[in-house]
Amino acid sequence: MDQGEFALSDREFSRVKARVYKEAGISLSEAKRTLVVSRLGKILRALRLGSFDAYLDYLEQHGSPADAQDFVNALTTNLTRFWREDHHFTHLEGYIGQLMEKRPRQGANGRPKLRIWSAGCSTGQEPYTIALGLLAAFPNLKHWDFRILATDIDTNVVAKAAAGIYPEAELNGLSRERAALFEPAGAGQVRIPAAAREVVSFKPLNLMHNPWPMRGAFDAVFCRNVAIYFDKKTQGELFGRLGSILVPDGFLYFGHSENLGAGGADFRLVGKTIYQARAQQKARDAA
Ligand SMILES: C[S@@+](CC[C@H](N)C(=O)[O-])C[C@H]1O[C@@H](n2cnc3c(N)ncnc32)[C@H](O)[C@@H]1O
Repeated sequence: MDQGEFALSDREFSRVKARVYKEAGISLSEAKRTLVVSRLGKILRALRLGSFDAYLDYLEQHGSPADAQDFVNALTTNLTRFWREDHHFTHLEGYIGQLMEKRPRQGANGRPKLRIWSAGCSTGQEPYTIALGLLAAFPNLKHWDFRILATDIDTNVVAKAAAGIYPEAELNGLSRERAALFEPAGAGQVRIPAAAREVVSFKPLNLMHNPWPMRGAFDAVFCRNVAIYFDKKTQGELFGRLGSILVPDGFLYFGHSENLGAGGADFRLVGKTIYQARAQQKARDAA
């Protein structure tokens, strides 16, 4: 195999794996060796370092928080798209429709509250799909205290997401109705309209940090195609914590290859990779 400019020894690869596991909970498989060489190789060149060992020593001994963040950013996988795994958004619309019927018209600040979390939001397509879809389906939501929290460990993708601008080509394959929800932004780009941008708050957040900084309960959490990078132990801990941040009967949406089996004590499986928090779970105040 062409190792490019830098060779990665088994020992160096073990050091990279240990560091990214400790920092981000990410378990790198043997198949990720080439990715590590190409992604971290760019950083080595920028820092004018001659080997992966020298880079890891540098991170341990002199690395700034920005250097540590660059290391993690380089090793995340950010693949995503608008309306990915469409059945989740169809389910969400049904649920929010029912919730809008049931929830009292007056919340504590005069408006009923709705909170959704996109955990591991990458470049923003997932939270914007939620915002665009729900605002189109329920025009009344503009009178609600409706917020989507969108977080990711990778600070580069969070910054891109907040800009809300995408290549027009990302709309390929969407229906005409969905494509019409975006605004033209010139130069082959489209923009998320202000009404949808305004309900989403993007923040960097490492899911491994404990406790999370948010206080409140969420009506729904999307944590899709994130836990596939974690080992079973890390997944188990994360799923337990997601259970306690949902309202009783709230929904958790996973990626197609992630599952909780039948759901255990905290959840019941109600659809394809859709879990409902069990009602006996302790209710918590909304944020
Ligand atoms: C493949 S993307 C999934 C994006 C979107 N949820 C979707 O399904 O289309 C996985 C995202 O998880 C993020 N991620 C990985 N480890 C994380 C961690 N410890 N905390 C927060 N985000 C993490 C990555 O940075 C990446 O953007």
